Amino acid sequence: MKPSILILGGTTEARELAGQIAAWPHVDATMSLAGRTRTPAAQSLPLRSGGFGGVDGLAGYLRDHRVNALIDATHPYAANMSAHATAAAQRTATPLLMLSRPAWVAVEGDHWIDACDSNAAAELLGSQPRRVFLAVGRQQLAAFVRAPQHFYLIRSIEQVDATVSLPRAQYLLERGPFDVQAERATLIEHAIEMMVSKNSGGDATYAKIAAARALGIPIVMIARPPPPAIACVDTVDAALAWLHHLFGAPTARGV
Ligand SMILES: NC(=O)c1ccc[n+]([C@@H]2O[C@H](COP(=O)([O-])OP(=O)(O)OC[C@H]3O[C@@H](n4cnc5c(N)ncnc54)[C@H](OP(=O)(O)O)[C@@H]3O)[C@@H](O)[C@H]2O)c1
Repeated sequence: MKPSILILGGTTEARELAGQIAAWPHVDATMSLAGRTRTPAAQSLPLRSGGFGGVDGLAGYLRDHRVNALIDATHPYAANMSAHATAAAQRTATPLLMLSRPAWVAVEGDHWIDACDSNAAAELLGSQPRRVFLAVGRQQLAAFVRAPQHFYLIRSIEQVDATVSLPRAQYLLERGPFDVQAERATLIEHAIEMMVSKNSGGDATYAKIAAARALGIPIVMIARPPPPAIACVDTVDAALAWLHHLFGAPTARGV
């Protein structure tokens, strides 16, 4: 029987890793997505979708599917899934690796205001009404209900949950990636004065950070949650090397 790999995805790196592993004839691999996006980007591995049902559910999945290696390639802010992966891997003695891209680092011209979480970010926008580009993702919007005085520009791939009520919000339904010129144009068109962002890292969403720098717009940067205490790499190549070490490299004969 071929060794079995489960990738917890939802990121560009997970997709890139899957693209490489799909060409390996000597392993079986599956991509797991949370199922939040109705039309996810195409995947090169067999896909399962939706939560596992907490640590117990994931541990059961790892056992039932005889998973030999688990790669947590979820987003750096997907802290619940990462904690569950750590606990379930430990319980089932499944080798686990976290693949997490490096955080962005401020460069000359950036004006970042550090926030420890979304609630702090909402406070740091201040009491005076501002025009804010809220680039935080759907889950974090509720924190900004406490600061209704601001205008918020909110961009998402799919319609935002109607239960979050921000009285002065405008919604853009768009799927990235966006280049710096397009981000600059968006910030100018909506007369944005401040931005709130997660420190996602990577290239895919960096254009808005560069555009804010070019326009002198301050960014309230929400800190990453602390990573779990497990083996962690920050590139797809390093994750592939870890798998090579466990299962050997694919050969021309596919064994
Ligand atoms: N948070 C972000 O800023 C962000 C940005 C871009 C992409 N994403 C991606 O979106 C997904 C959800 O993010 P989140 O912040 O809501 O995560 P989260 O709070 O850590 O996870 C919440 C629950 O969603 C389920 N889940 C999350 N990722 C899953 C996966 N890859 N496969 C199966 N179930 C998964 C799990 O449910 P059960 O407990 O039932 O197993 C988990 O407990 C993640 O896969 C992440 O990679 C997140």
